[in-house]
Amino acid sequence: MSSHMRTRHASGKKPAIKVVVAFCVLGLLLSASVAVMWAQVVAGDPGVRGGPSAAGAPLRGLTVQERSYFDAGLEEFADADSVRGTISGEPGRGLGPRFNLNSCGGCHAQPALGGSSPFINPQVAVANLDGATNIIPSFITDNGPVRVARFKFKADGTRDGGAHDLYTITGRSDAPGCSIAQPDFGAAAANDNLIFRIPTPVFGAGLIETIEDAALIRNQSSNLAAKRALGISGRANRNGNDGTVARFGWKAQNKSLQLFAAEAYNVEQGVTNEIFPSERDETPSCLFNGTPEDHTNFDPGSQDATSDVVRLAIFMRFLAPPPPAPDTPSIVKGRVLFSQIGCALCHTPTLTTGASSGAALSSKPANLFSDLLVHHMGSGLADGVVQGQAGPDEFRTAPLWGLGQRVFFLHDGRTTDLLEAIQAHASPPTSNLLPSEGNRVAANFNRLSENQKQDVLNFLRAL
Ligand code: HEC
Ligand code: HEC
Repeated sequence: MSSHMRTRHASGKKPAIKVVVAFCVLGLLLSASVAVMWAQVVAGDPGVRGGPSAAGAPLRGLTVQERSYFDAGLEEFADADSVRGTISGEPGRGLGPRFNLNSCGGCHAQPALGGSSPFINPQVAVANLDGATNIIPSFITDNGPVRVARFKFKADGTRDGGAHDLYTITGRSDAPGCSIAQPDFGAAAANDNLIFRIPTPVFGAGLIETIEDAALIRNQSSNLAAKRALGISGRANRNGNDGTVARFGWKAQNKSLQLFAAEAYNVEQGVTNEIFPSERDETPSCLFNGTPEDHTNFDPGSQDATSDVVRLAIFMRFLAPPPPAPDTPSIVKGRVLFSQIGCALCHTPTLTTGASSGAALSSKPANLFSDLLVHHMGSGLADGVVQGQAGPDEFRTAPLWGLGQRVFFLHDGRTTDLLEAIQAHASPPTSNLLPSEGNRVAANFNRLSENQKQDVLNFLRAL
């Protein structure tokens, strides 16, 4: 705003010296009063929506049996793991040798179990829990987002893209004799080889899983003229083997909740399981359990034979979407503008689930605000990681349900400010990347009046 005032001065004709002084005084007064007026109308992110959170509840319409699996899965999701399950308060078994945190619920925490990164990052405290001797990397801070680190390239220059866990169990009281080094994050950062991902919330994930591929493709081919005019395309990240549409993760890289649970269990916590049975680090002195550490329970007396992975997947499948806040006149206007300026061409407000074997998920509206397709988002967001068919600059349209109570935004959690998240949709083409498909819609947003921008922001914080 002040630079705006300055350019207006500079472009004026040069007045005589005496008049300049008078002008400056007048200018100062004017700019001060303009600043006051401006401060009242400039749009701003209202911030994390306060009040109680209704997120984290089970879907309505579950059977009694389904509900009991949901409850068991919820417990599993919250449980912390230790290496051998012998430490009080950390009943789960199989942590490490390498890990990013010791529970699903620690990362998926805000505003309720199943959500995204909390205000205070639990990755600080876990670094030295139970005697562990980890050094906390510079990009992990108390008030920063939970982060998972990936390297773009391997030392030999070929693509990497995989997660490199922050921590090891070295020094823990339940891992005697294990001694392995943490990755060299400093070197990776210095070589511009380090990228981050924050947790995506899993509320409503069962509805996402149940949307038919055909519904996604129909939605992709709707409003084609409007999409073309705004430079929007998007494509499905199809699973390499069965050819169906993958949809979970920042690049829609994973097909199902059970697959994601199994992968997260091994990658984030180091717990081997029936879908990912190999330890990612097989240093013999750091292996304390046979694999898979989590498995079907064959004990003759047990009522429930399901593995942790199955229970975790069921919990997420039956987790309801977060209910939005009640409408106000501004929220209603914001919702209309969100569609008018083209946000809704990627962030599809509603998709309907297909016929499901479970009534609670069958033919239900999912107000997810995503087309579940990946889009080229330009050089500003590109992370150089390829996952399935999603290229270095392609990301799944982030579902926006629950946005109102999120702390951190975008795949790497670079901002807590919705306005910055919107501006990040725009970036110019570079020699090797296409322009962002979000460029023209971001420009439409910037052309709105400050009051209209505020309506859009209020609408987003009501989600
Ligand atoms: C260290 C933090 C951390 C832990 C622990 C963790 N996650 Fe995640 N989770 C993430 C991150 C980061 C992503 C985004 C991954 C990506 O796309 O790169 C994610 C994404 C997911 C998704 C995809 C949701 C969607 O719609 O995109 C599911 C499902 C999930 N996690 C389940 C789990 C389960 C189950 C556990 C426990 C076994 C778990 N996570 C443990 C950080 C974590
Ligand atoms: C071309 C498709 C496209 C359009 C148009 C689009 N978005 Fe997005 N949006 C995305 C993608 C893809 C992401 C995830 C980007 C990332 O994290 O790197 C995203 C992320 C976001 C986020 C952050 C969500 C999160 O989970 O962190 C917000 C907020 C958002 N969009 C709002 C908007 C608004 C408001 C508009 C209209 C002004 C808009 N988007 C237009 C594709 C789009």
